[in-house]
Amino acid sequence: MSFHLVFNSLRISLFSLLFTGISLFTNAQIQSSVFITLPSQKNALVLQVNEKKHLTMVYYGKKLSNTEEYQNVSGVYKQAEDYTGQLNSAYTPSGSLNLVEPAMSITHADGDNSLDLKYVSHTLKQENDDVSLLSIVLKDPVYNFTVTLFYKSYFKEDVIEQWSAVKHTEKGNVILHKYASANLHLKGSGYWLNQYHGDWAKEMQPEESKLTHGIKTLDTKLGTRANLFQPSVFMVSIGQPAKEDEGTVLFGSLEWSGNFRTDLEVDLQDNLRIISGINNYASDYTLKPQEEFITPAFLYTLSTEGKGVASRNMQRWARNYKLLDGKGTRLTLLNNWEATYFDFNESKLANLLKDTKKLGVDMFLLDDGWFANKYPRNGDNAGLGDWQENKEKLPNGIASLIKEADNNQVKFGIWIEPEMVNPKSELYEKHPDWVIKESKRDEYYFRNQLVLDLTNPKVQDFVYGVVDGLFTKNPELAYIKWDCNAVIYNAHSATLKNQSHFYIEYVKGLYKVLERIRAKYPKVPMMLCSGGGGRVDYAALQYFTEFWPSDNTDPLERIFMQWEYSYFYPAIASSNHVTDWGKQPIKFRTDVAMMGKLGFDIVVDKLAADDLKYCQDAIKNYNSIKPIIWQGEQYRLSNPAESAVAAMLYMNESKSSGVIFNYLVNYRYGVKSTLPILLKGLDPAKKYTIEEINLYPGTKCTLTGTKVYTGDFLMKIGFNPDVNTSRTSVILKIEAAGG
Ligand code: DGJ
Repeated sequence: MSFHLVFNSLRISLFSLLFTGISLFTNAQIQSSVFITLPSQKNALVLQVNEKKHLTMVYYGKKLSNTEEYQNVSGVYKQAEDYTGQLNSAYTPSGSLNLVEPAMSITHADGDNSLDLKYVSHTLKQENDDVSLLSIVLKDPVYNFTVTLFYKSYFKEDVIEQWSAVKHTEKGNVILHKYASANLHLKGSGYWLNQYHGDWAKEMQPEESKLTHGIKTLDTKLGTRANLFQPSVFMVSIGQPAKEDEGTVLFGSLEWSGNFRTDLEVDLQDNLRIISGINNYASDYTLKPQEEFITPAFLYTLSTEGKGVASRNMQRWARNYKLLDGKGTRLTLLNNWEATYFDFNESKLANLLKDTKKLGVDMFLLDDGWFANKYPRNGDNAGLGDWQENKEKLPNGIASLIKEADNNQVKFGIWIEPEMVNPKSELYEKHPDWVIKESKRDEYYFRNQLVLDLTNPKVQDFVYGVVDGLFTKNPELAYIKWDCNAVIYNAHSATLKNQSHFYIEYVKGLYKVLERIRAKYPKVPMMLCSGGGGRVDYAALQYFTEFWPSDNTDPLERIFMQWEYSYFYPAIASSNHVTDWGKQPIKFRTDVAMMGKLGFDIVVDKLAADDLKYCQDAIKNYNSIKPIIWQGEQYRLSNPAESAVAAMLYMNESKSSGVIFNYLVNYRYGVKSTLPILLKGLDPAKKYTIEEINLYPGTKCTLTGTKVYTGDFLMKIGFNPDVNTSRTSVILKIEAAGG
């Protein structure tokens, strides 16, 4: 990888940089306008220090062959006067020249509200042949106040993580009113925002609209379960709405598990400014002299070849760098939540453990309801916080269940919701000051519960202790499902000195606990659940191996939901369970769940013999194809929102093995796959065989004709999976001849 700096008056060879790994450039060396180019495999992000020493963003798009030509980019635009020279600021300060939405606004120690940020120096650190870290120091010329911008670039994945660090040595505290992670500036003839909204069981509903002049804000103020109504992931198409394999599109999201805010502003020059960071709602931050405030990272990738490429870049990046154990393996499981809810005891569980073995999955997952004695957890209105086994349900404790699991040669996992408390609990009685509430106001509950105050180190110890205690007592425990069902009302900590820091300190407290857990238990698989998908983001996924996309497991709904999640998150992280939701047959339900990390939450005992046989065989099939689903590239072939048939292909890296999932999503009379479906991501020269797998007992494959096709044929003419109302779900295995 190379890193280019083009100076109007001098040009620096990058040889030394590549050999030393670090290069530092300072203001003293640079007399006139400086270009800082951050190239990746296909793109370049170009910044310019202008004559006034302001850092501006001049280009983000396909990279040029001749890097010196980036100097000419701005000159070919004939847009309106910008009046400030700051509209394309790479980090817009407020209160001086700025006339638009700022990235940062502050009050200095002397009470002044103005901020100007000028370029001081920049450094590039090459971490390896893929990853580099560019940092650029900006300083207020009047005050001792600096902001350092960080751009971590993943060359092969075309992904950038961007964040900022703020520091000052003023004579007193500075108040940060707004402190964005990143401020992008893009040019195009129009911008289309694809955003998501949701609620319980309705996660990841896409909505696309053209951005008009002014500001569109995506944000949350829920504190915990922060994504419930709106996740931070979004797409912006430039020039025209991007399609799967065409168009320029930026995917973005904030790596933060609390309140976020992303402003998308089409400015007076018709350019798009994107400013993303922690939501400053109720969160003025008081920064002491010498203290450093580091924002979370804003994550983005740009594709000029449509959404498919952007999603594969994001997924590969996640598996390689962010998701815990992204290249590792996962456990298939049987969960008891929908089979028993709170109503179980040792003997019921003993049967479920046998069923786990009978089904052929790796693990049994015991869900909610196993704990609390004074206020037993027999419903969602009591017991949360009292993490001792319920003596009536489990007189011999978790240890005996783990032993029983072992007797059945399966592993054992358990559900917890350690950040939460029911008012009807011993924990609440003992530690009312550990609970987030306004003591002068009525308590207000979400699912009959309140959130514990993770800004308080004692509460952090308690939450860590819940997990550590379980593992210490039960070293064989194989898995944790970490739930989080409430949002924060009455955001107030009994112990935090500055309540304006509350929302930020909550998330930091959560991360401190997760850090400690991972320091001691680096790889134990943990599922990130939040009454469904109310929490998933890439900061949290550093600590979790998978997430729960939604309690809605109706497979028809899931086809749409998983489709949308897959743009941002890899299949290995998506926990998909077969349940009794929806009207589809077991084959359909199982096939859909196989598109990620497979699990079951059904009463195995009640399955008809053929249904059971089908599931057992499907699990065996899954075990043979799971490396492709977990580590392969995902190609969206036929969009359920646009067609009666949904189709998704997973292909391994060498393009030799793949799996295609096909579903009927429209049940009107006579609907079927009339046309062949075009495949993608194959080697045109290779010959492939296509075979149907996961057939329901007693049914025959209806695919006729030749079974060998070239990749060229399959990508130009396609293949018909023969989906129709009597074949609503078809899984095809595609294999290159000779492997
Ligand atoms: C919400 C989760 O999404 C469910 O899967 C289940 O674990 C319940 N909580 C248990 O209370």
